Amino acid sequence: MKCKISHQPDVTLEASAIRESKAHVTSAPTDTQALLTALVRQFQRQQYPVSVNFRQLLPALNGTDRYTHLLHPYPAKLLVHIPYLFLSNELLSVPGDAVLDPFCGSGTVLLEAQLAGRRAYGVDPNPLARLIAQVKTSPLDSDALTKTLENILERVAEEPSGSCPDVVNLEHWFYPAAIKQLRCLEEVVNRLRIPEIRNFFMACLSVCVRRVSLADPRLSVPVRLKLGIYPENHPFREQSDKHLRQLRRVNVRGVFARIARINIARMHRFQGLSNSLGSAEILCSDARRLVHEYSPNGQHGTRFDAGSIQLIITSPPYPGAQKYVRASSLSLGWLRLCRVADLRGLQAKIIGREEFTSDECNEVLITEIAEADEVLAAIRGRSPIRAAIAATYLREMHVAIREMHRVLRDSGYVVLVAANNRISGMEFRTADFLRAMAEQCGFTTVAIFVDAIKSRGLMTKRNSTASVISRETVLIFAKGKLPKWTL
Ligand SMILES: C[S@@+](CC[C@H](N)C(=O)[O-])C[C@H]1O[C@@H](n2cnc3c(N)ncnc32)[C@H](O)[C@@H]1O
Repeated sequence: MKCKISHQPDVTLEASAIRESKAHVTSAPTDTQALLTALVRQFQRQQYPVSVNFRQLLPALNGTDRYTHLLHPYPAKLLVHIPYLFLSNELLSVPGDAVLDPFCGSGTVLLEAQLAGRRAYGVDPNPLARLIAQVKTSPLDSDALTKTLENILERVAEEPSGSCPDVVNLEHWFYPAAIKQLRCLEEVVNRLRIPEIRNFFMACLSVCVRRVSLADPRLSVPVRLKLGIYPENHPFREQSDKHLRQLRRVNVRGVFARIARINIARMHRFQGLSNSLGSAEILCSDARRLVHEYSPNGQHGTRFDAGSIQLIITSPPYPGAQKYVRASSLSLGWLRLCRVADLRGLQAKIIGREEFTSDECNEVLITEIAEADEVLAAIRGRSPIRAAIAATYLREMHVAIREMHRVLRDSGYVVLVAANNRISGMEFRTADFLRAMAEQCGFTTVAIFVDAIKSRGLMTKRNSTASVISRETVLIFAKGKLPKWTL
């Protein structure tokens, strides 16, 4: 089936809708049910994307250290405001319902779903993402963590005794003194017996690894710092050079202790909620095939039940824009989550990946979305590899969207966060193509919101803005017909 996509201008949220929501520029809790209803009805009346500013609509969430969200950085983390808007009311799901994020990354949706009393399920091929998501959604006793931290700090040796973790280009990314101290610390953390507590300190160690590495802290993908790398007058020049000098005599144990103490304080706030929290489970590693792989509640390898999920909220990767495996590579090695020889195999599981053989580049892939195929033909004329990356991305996302349709209940919803971007200098309307695919699969579009985001989470180069996405699109679909509340 071919699907036509209409291009309509955005409009700003009507004054009446803002009044209806009583939601703007106040830090009082927002009535998200009224807000969401108003925004959706506006879309249904006008049939083109509604411009929103999530930070203005939900100001109470701005700049907050909410429970465990900030426990560990992750590339292209979702703005908390987005899942909060859809989970803090009973329009799309109610407490006790199952909520899935099939591209869960560091677990932003899982944590918000859990805070709203839903049963959360997550999926991701990146073992570091799964570890962070699992730690963020597992409340632990902060007194036990504090005692364990004291114990760890007492037991860290001066010299390592075991094998060195297999870390990519180790000497390129760390000074020798940092390597020795990290090895001693890793040995103690790895010996912790209770898995949940070990995972918590592994996540802290992962933050520490990146902080004591020679990788530029402003970029998600490791790029080595050098003295004077930023031009004079650059706002980061002085800070960067100072940071680099301090790394020569870094006290890894001290850095780790600071990170752990802040994370224990986050866990302390989170643990207070234990009684009202929903559950959270990491299901498997591939959104294209939802099976029980890690979940304790299903038989290993069996498919996740059809019609069992009420709500999917997810921000999938963009084509060729993110390098999740490279961004996580130092931690993956130090935490012994992936050996250097296995990094390539892990990369191959990532939707939006960039590594293709010349044979794969020469193959002309069809996406079944007429407009996408036209743009892909034009891109192929400029860069066969870029065309292969984008076409493969769309085909793999199509499989993932079909799988979302399978596991969703008939009354269920999908909230999908995407962005249009540029490939080989040409506009690539990823969000529109994903919408066309969803409609082909049998979803009905409930609403589209567009937010002008200011995010540097995707930056991979000091001097380039090529992969900085500036307009985020939130697509809301229903399985089957439009529900009455939307009209
Ligand atoms: C935009 S990030 C999600 C960020 C997440 N919402 C957060 O707040 O941390 C997209 C995620 O999709 C994951 N991903 C890539 N290929 C995947 C696949 N085949 N199945 C499931 N997840 C995948 C990436 O590893 C990455 O963590």
